[in-house]
Amino acid sequence: MSKESFDRFSKFITRELGIKMPPEKRIMLQSRLYKRMTQLHLSSLEEYEHHLFDLPETSDEWTEFINLVTTNKTDFFREPKHFEFLTQTALPSLESGKPGGRPFKLWCAGCSSGEEPYTLAMVLSEYRVTHSGFDFSILATDISTRVLNHARTGIYEEMQIDPVSIDLRRRYLMRSKDRKRGIIRISPELRQKVRFGRLNFMNEDYGVKEQFDSIFFRNVMIYFSKQTQQNVLEKLCRNLCVGGYLFAGHSESLVGFDLPIRQVFNSVFQKVR
Ligand SMILES: C[S@@+](CC[C@H](N)C(=O)[O-])C[C@H]1O[C@@H](n2cnc3c(N)ncnc32)[C@H](O)[C@@H]1O
Repeated sequence: MSKESFDRFSKFITRELGIKMPPEKRIMLQSRLYKRMTQLHLSSLEEYEHHLFDLPETSDEWTEFINLVTTNKTDFFREPKHFEFLTQTALPSLESGKPGGRPFKLWCAGCSSGEEPYTLAMVLSEYRVTHSGFDFSILATDISTRVLNHARTGIYEEMQIDPVSIDLRRRYLMRSKDRKRGIIRISPELRQKVRFGRLNFMNEDYGVKEQFDSIFFRNVMIYFSKQTQQNVLEKLCRNLCVGGYLFAGHSESLVGFDLPIRQVFNSVFQKVR
């Protein structure tokens, strides 16, 4: 891909998605776009560039482009200490979810193909077994329509569920009748607890009216510049109740940000005002 084409793609990706695209990412971007170029029977990435930028930003081809340039790596029970912290420290400290109170509300922001919100739904359902009257709801958002469509099906390959304990598999996962297919599906009861929606963290207004008791925002801001991280975190904090918890990825630092939160555990923060 020519330097000019890369610069044009890279500026768009950073401006519209917040994702940093330095020159070292040129080969990676090139290989991701190459497949789409071939599907469209175009003969070069420059041709693809002209084709794309001639279309309005509302066209499906742009949605496809966004699906290609986001990195969606995720897992069931990724960074598992956070789930222990949630049930052992966060939930007991909050009023929501208690009998007579309103349900515990959680936002999984940057949910990818659903492994993280379904892990949370399993963990919270287990908590409900031992805490009668507890109830919860989960909002899960991402910008990629490809991962959201996958997440809504609740279907995964069997090898992906290695981190899920045998007990949880029995209670919340269904095996395909045809064992040879090697797939599982999240149970309907669990799927019902998660609402999926499309949201771009670069939007001026997220349009999310609810206040959440916890927000999981893990392994997303690692792709953003410091200024973008500050802007997005400020907005997420506005949707977090005072006393509520913000979970970041283990490799993401919140040092040096001006936010109404204090650190309470590894990459876990509590809103203080
Ligand atoms: C690496 S995945 C992390 C998934 C999950 N949170 C986890 O920790 O396993 C990052 C996700 O952030 C999403 N993402 C990236 N930029 C975004 C943006 N501007 N708005 C919304 N989601 C975005 C990507 O589509 C991707 O699915």
